[in-house]
Amino acid sequence: MPYDDPLMSWYEAASDRYDAWAAADMTADVPFYVGLAHEADGPIVELAVGTGRVAIPVAYATGRRVIGVDASPGMLRQARARAAEAGVDLTLIEGDMREFTLDEPAALIYCPYRALLHLPTWADRRRVFERVAASLQPGGRFAWNAIAFDHRVAAREDGVRHEEPVPHTVRFAVGDNRIDLVLDGGATTSLWWATKNEWLGLIDVAGLHVEALHGGFAGEPLTDESTEYVFVVRRSP
Ligand SMILES: C[S@@+](CC[C@H](N)C(=O)[O-])C[C@H]1O[C@@H](n2cnc3c(N)ncnc32)[C@H](O)[C@@H]1O
Repeated sequence: MPYDDPLMSWYEAASDRYDAWAAADMTADVPFYVGLAHEADGPIVELAVGTGRVAIPVAYATGRRVIGVDASPGMLRQARARAAEAGVDLTLIEGDMREFTLDEPAALIYCPYRALLHLPTWADRRRVFERVAASLQPGGRFAWNAIAFDHRVAAREDGVRHEEPVPHTVRFAVGDNRIDLVLDGGATTSLWWATKNEWLGLIDVAGLHVEALHGGFAGEPLTDESTEYVFVVRRSP
């Protein structure tokens, strides 16, 4: 992905404030992904690793190396510094998750904090799922979480400016199933939400199988009130 891509310029502009942003929004995911990593018997890979917000606790808790892929040099710089500070082993690869390859098949590949939603089209996500299926050991797992679109949240949030944790405005473009996060100054990143059936279609075409679909990180059932999909899928043994 080119670094002048608007998505990448948002992360380049915000990488030093990213952890404050994430901490205000998402923390329950860390123990969930740590739990999956404890069960992984083989290489562990995080797609769109960012600053290592999840990969560092995973590496710390398991005492194992985590391989992280991300397209943003600024985010990877933060990850490198934080991993050194925490004394954990991360192998960081600058690259696009639609094209990643591994030297060895993985026991666990995971993609936290809705990062798959940065890919604009179903075909972009299909490329990731195909790379994942080709990169997993037999029986290996792929896990991710993503927004479950909620019209009430969209109605409440559309056009609203937030001061914290980083001044920004949220805009919903329902026709394009897109949410824009616009930093003061104009840098914009977008998330393209997907329905449950779109996710199930991606799993199907990649030849993977659903192990669990939760409505939250504590294993809550997915209901009409859920605002998050938490998926765990497997490659056949
Ligand atoms: C919301 S952050 C998630 C970071 C980290 N996984 C976490 O949970 O904190 C999204 C990350 O996705 C990365 N990203 C977006 N599109 C990407 C792509 N096509 N390939 C690799 N990384 C990508 C961004 O650079 C950014 O670091």
